[in-house]
Amino acid sequence: MADKNGTKITILGAGNVGASVAYTFAVAGTCSDIVLVDINKAKAKGEAMDIRQGVSFGENVEIFDGGYEDAKDSDIVVVTLGIARKPGQTRLDLAQTNVNIIKEVMPQVAKYAPDAIYVVVSNPVDVLTYTILKCTDLKPNQVIGSGTALDTSRLRSIIADHVGLSPNSIHAYVFGEHGDSSFIPWSIMNIAGVPVDEYCADQDHADLDEDEIIDEVRKAGAEVIKRKGATFYAIAMTVNKICDTVLRDSKNIITVSTMINNRYGISDVCLSLPCVIGSNGIEKEVSPKLNDAEIEKLQASAKALRNVIDQIQF
Ligand code: LAC
Repeated sequence: MADKNGTKITILGAGNVGASVAYTFAVAGTCSDIVLVDINKAKAKGEAMDIRQGVSFGENVEIFDGGYEDAKDSDIVVVTLGIARKPGQTRLDLAQTNVNIIKEVMPQVAKYAPDAIYVVVSNPVDVLTYTILKCTDLKPNQVIGSGTALDTSRLRSIIADHVGLSPNSIHAYVFGEHGDSSFIPWSIMNIAGVPVDEYCADQDHADLDEDEIIDEVRKAGAEVIKRKGATFYAIAMTVNKICDTVLRDSKNIITVSTMINNRYGISDVCLSLPCVIGSNGIEKEVSPKLNDAEIEKLQASAKALRNVIDQIQF
């Protein structure tokens, strides 16, 4: 296990997502120092105080509020800046507003933490991951969009419930946009090496309906927002997993949003495919063999994102 002493994570944005990420880090003992930064300084301070008051019963974590300059020496900067989705809004509806915020803030932060790994969470996450790469000198390996890591977790839970297994034993992924053009590469989905459809037939489970499942995955976040106004716990656990993987250098393969160049006929767009994550951020890209229909879905997802990028003013 990597030594957690002297590991620092700065979280930009102390709203529901930023605060939940900080709380998850504190409970899990993911790092030794957490800095919360928000334009609403009182909110950042209040969230830091609230967590700090509980740490004597938890892990040995220091948590502070601060400004952009306090991102200096961070191992990781988590980006949760911007406005969140409201009921009925798609992630892409937020694009221009959040691009403007990212463009304004990220060059300032990158100046203080040029070597950190950046984990981008704000939506639309693929467009904002792209924006950060365009408006700073950060390298593609340094900028990880949380992307479909959460959708992949949601998918694994749905299939796990259906077949009565742990989600950890379901080898399934969601690729593409973290949004309405995401898709499941069904041909590579397996349980202990057995294609999932075959597993269901062998074990007397009903057939899985691919269209229904991707629909459920795509709408999962909106279903939560409809009921409680926001999503934050599942994404906080997802961000924690990504950050823990970076700090431990554990080389987990996670579906995250990254700059794609010359893969599956796609270039100059950020979307999610499986990546090896370690202390250098995105260390390797993995390109599983997809069938023609799946490649078309990936290209359609890239096109949907490219259309948004083309309409944005950077
Ligand atoms: C969700 C947000 C993080 O899907 O986009 O819950």
